[in-house]
Amino acid sequence: MSGRIPVWIDTDPGVDDSFAVLCALKDDQLDVRGISAVMGNAEQKYTYKNARNLAHFANRDEVPVYAGSEVPLFKKLRTAPLIHGETGISDAVLEESSAPHATLLAWDALYKEAKAQNGALRLVTLGPLTNIAKAFMKYPELPDLLEGIYIMGGAAEGGNITPCAEFNVYVDPHAAETVFRTGKKVYMFGLDVTQKAYLTDAEYHGIAKGEGRMTEFFRKSTAHILRLKENPQGFELYLHDVCPVAYLHEPSLFYGEMAKVHAETEGTITSGKTVTDLWSDKSFAEEANTKVMLEVNREALIRYMTDMLKKIQ
Ligand code: RIB
Ligand code: CA
Repeated sequence: MSGRIPVWIDTDPGVDDSFAVLCALKDDQLDVRGISAVMGNAEQKYTYKNARNLAHFANRDEVPVYAGSEVPLFKKLRTAPLIHGETGISDAVLEESSAPHATLLAWDALYKEAKAQNGALRLVTLGPLTNIAKAFMKYPELPDLLEGIYIMGGAAEGGNITPCAEFNVYVDPHAAETVFRTGKKVYMFGLDVTQKAYLTDAEYHGIAKGEGRMTEFFRKSTAHILRLKENPQGFELYLHDVCPVAYLHEPSLFYGEMAKVHAETEGTITSGKTVTDLWSDKSFAEEANTKVMLEVNREALIRYMTDMLKKIQ
């Protein structure tokens, strides 16, 4: 269909990744040209398998899925089994895709598609940025071939894996710094906005109730999170990765401000911190290349996600 937005999704499915990928695959406004897997929430062998099986689950076997990085550029891999389980999708089991395995690796396939789209490709990243950094290093002209880079990652304030670092940037801060430094048009969906994209208990149970394979996947893929919610600290179900996809569908759901962003790579306590000049002297760095998202219309985002997931029966 003409007028659809060409999108590439780099992802570490991953529970919230799964909802984001399914939304994108069912959104008639978006033309998902490729999906690449990266290590993060789980080992790459699981994230690659999950990405393939999510395309199959959405009846979109024609969307190519590519294998990517198994380890960060320099750091030791850290995954998130407490939230996502060892397999990345908690207690859920998806039917195996029988789609042929792609021969290209993530970074080569992304470059090939970006050239084919001639500047129109939107790159959505939902995991650590290792694949993208490798692509930028191998193909220096790639940043100019993208319409924009829509990153779930970082945090102007706070952190979730450490007090000052968000998971995706923390896992591979060197990759994140490469992307923030060389990206031309970057949109950062950090914790500042994604922790405002939470599901209330009532909304959770509204989605989880009933029959059908989508509600079953939703229930089983959130089993680890539900167990965490029962612990005394409590735990929220944040739809981190749905944010950049919802933005491409309807940018007016979000508010952000331009800033320069760098990722700390050397700190012992601060490794993975994204440092922005949002609220400081603007002479911090060269001109701002990143729109840091700060607000979201939460209810509208939930409506978007439920509308898209309902298409999977
Ligand atoms: O910090 C949240 C991010 O880390 C999300 O992308 C989640 O899927 C995990 O990868
Ligand atoms: Ca993710």
